[in-house]
Amino acid sequence: MTRKLFVTTALPYANANFHIGHIMEYTQADVWVRFQRMMGQEVHFVCADDAHGAPIMIAAEKAGKTPQQFVADIASGRKPYLDGFHISFDNWHSTDGAENHELSKDVYRALRRQELIDVKSIEQFFDPEKSMFLPDRFIKGECPKCGAKDQYGDSCEVCGAVYSPTELTHPYSVLTGATPVLKSSEHYFFKLSDPRCIAFLEEWTQTPGRLQGEVFNKIKEWFTKDEEGKGGLGDWDISRDAPYFGIEIPDAPGKYFYVWLDAPIGYLASLKNYFGKTGRDFDAFMADEAVEQVHFIGKDITYFHTLFWPAMLHFSGRKTPDHVFVHGFMTVNGGEKMSKSRGTGLDPMKYLGLGLNAEWLRYYISAKLNSRVEDIDFNPEDFVARINSDLVGKYINIASRAAGFLTKRFGGHLSADLGVEGRALLDGLRAHAATIGELYEEREFGKALRETMLLADRVNEFVDQNKPWDLAKQEGQEAVLHDVCSVCIEAFRLLTIYLKPVLPALATKVEAFLRVEPLQFADAARALGAHQIGTYEHLMQRVDMKVVEALFEAPPPPKVVPGGEDIAPEIKIDDFSKVDLRIAKIVKAETVEGSDKLLRLTLDAGEGRLRNVFSGIKSAYKPEQLEGKLTVMVANLAPRKMKFGISEGMVLAASHADEKATPGIFVLEPFPGAQPGMRVR
Ligand code: 2FM
Ligand code: ZN
Repeated sequence: MTRKLFVTTALPYANANFHIGHIMEYTQADVWVRFQRMMGQEVHFVCADDAHGAPIMIAAEKAGKTPQQFVADIASGRKPYLDGFHISFDNWHSTDGAENHELSKDVYRALRRQELIDVKSIEQFFDPEKSMFLPDRFIKGECPKCGAKDQYGDSCEVCGAVYSPTELTHPYSVLTGATPVLKSSEHYFFKLSDPRCIAFLEEWTQTPGRLQGEVFNKIKEWFTKDEEGKGGLGDWDISRDAPYFGIEIPDAPGKYFYVWLDAPIGYLASLKNYFGKTGRDFDAFMADEAVEQVHFIGKDITYFHTLFWPAMLHFSGRKTPDHVFVHGFMTVNGGEKMSKSRGTGLDPMKYLGLGLNAEWLRYYISAKLNSRVEDIDFNPEDFVARINSDLVGKYINIASRAAGFLTKRFGGHLSADLGVEGRALLDGLRAHAATIGELYEEREFGKALRETMLLADRVNEFVDQNKPWDLAKQEGQEAVLHDVCSVCIEAFRLLTIYLKPVLPALATKVEAFLRVEPLQFADAARALGAHQIGTYEHLMQRVDMKVVEALFEAPPPPKVVPGGEDIAPEIKIDDFSKVDLRIAKIVKAETVEGSDKLLRLTLDAGEGRLRNVFSGIKSAYKPEQLEGKLTVMVANLAPRKMKFGISEGMVLAASHADEKATPGIFVLEPFPGAQPGMRVR
């Protein structure tokens, strides 16, 4: 029976590009998904941007964008990574999509009907200048234990103490520097401590086959109370107060779902969005008992996926995950963990930019992966060795050793006979299909690849024993040469089947070379027989250690220039062309009452309307010096509400980093001839 699989990876926060931790997780899930597709299963593999939350809202504000625009800009950078590393998602969506708003509200209303929602008043730090409640990470102060300065609200990086933000000495808001005040507000809670939830989760987590053993052991600690009745599952705070970028809670004005409530619902939303686009019935699919829901995640978000998420689903009358597959982190050179915010070291875009083959990394990651929650390490020497000696030396070599003779001497026709020894070798290779398939199924990719390489060793021994290069020189050995080379090609085809989940692009090239349909796992049981293959073209290069070294070279430090500040990090021409610079005429310039920094400028950029722009140039110019002059304006900057009114653009001016220490501010003026409205590029 065909399995119906709904597979996801964790939804990445939409505040940064992917780092190697993401690529590792996507590779793991993608290999599994591709294997399932090769088995003929129906697979729907989806992901989305995790768009909501205070950090994204604040980052967007800093970047002068709306959160929606900010998230859209991050999302637009996803494709080169996903295509580059051959990650075959069927859909990519956003948790800010309409489907997620709707589904999240549905889930919440259902939980409320089950009387699993509580409202309690809690006290939290509030930034009086910014008028917002502060997440723990946005409060700093002195550690209550060791007195270290500038420590986060939840733990001290110097002495390791864990505390709550209210215990900090001299707390301040990271956003404004203001001293936060305690303020109470009503929060919404999901009553996980309800006996129904506890009973359900005990049963759900214990169901065999659902979770890895080590994951189950970890979870047990989380929901068992100690002898004093402490610990155990507490109610979960699922609301945040405005301002917040998120989904509004029904019937609770000014309250939003905490990002972790709507994030996993984003899995369903992405599937729904995909089904909508492809004309499938989402509700019918999710109601189908046969569907297996599978989530690949990192170990740091186990809690959310094995407790909150199944409980949310179950008590809202939905199907719960069949498997949550947890993996460890990726480290580089035995170093720091490479997941989440700390992504440094192996930059996936730099990897591709240097011309390193994405499938080398897929192979290396897969060779290190198993079904347990273990960290895996990227080691450059090991990487080069595995690619050059295993992948190229053992596998690719088989084709390159045999293909030339076949084309030159036999017109690309394979022998149908193959000889006794050859047939035995191939039978041996075929006999491993089931084991290798099981290893893929169990996510024991390292073992699957080791098995495959052992088979490649057998083929190479066969080649070494039969020496086609000698046979080619001997008279009367044509038929033997033909058999030996044909065996190699058939063996190569079998090994390609076993490697295809990991090396999909290479497999496509092999399929073209062999002139066969896209290889499925079941094709291992068949033989090519008397078939004509195409011309061999080199399939894969060896890795050059120098290029791998370049991957880890730090970029040259930016030069400090007389302007008093470093050159900003490099951008692409696309980044620059996002900024629309226009020639504008300063129609009017006037002082602003109550401001000693600003001038109010009325600008004409040839748009048939005038713009109001505030510019911090009062110290350098009298209004009359500016009126009638041309200058350069940023024309597509989002309007900014300032104390004195709305500013609809920005005028370009030069200054030293320390304006006071050196000559001041210089507004830009174009050479004669420029006209208002002309674009500056
Ligand atoms: O930890 C993270 O990166 C989260 N953005 C993962 C969310 S997974 C799912 F729940 F959406
Ligand atoms: Zn401390």
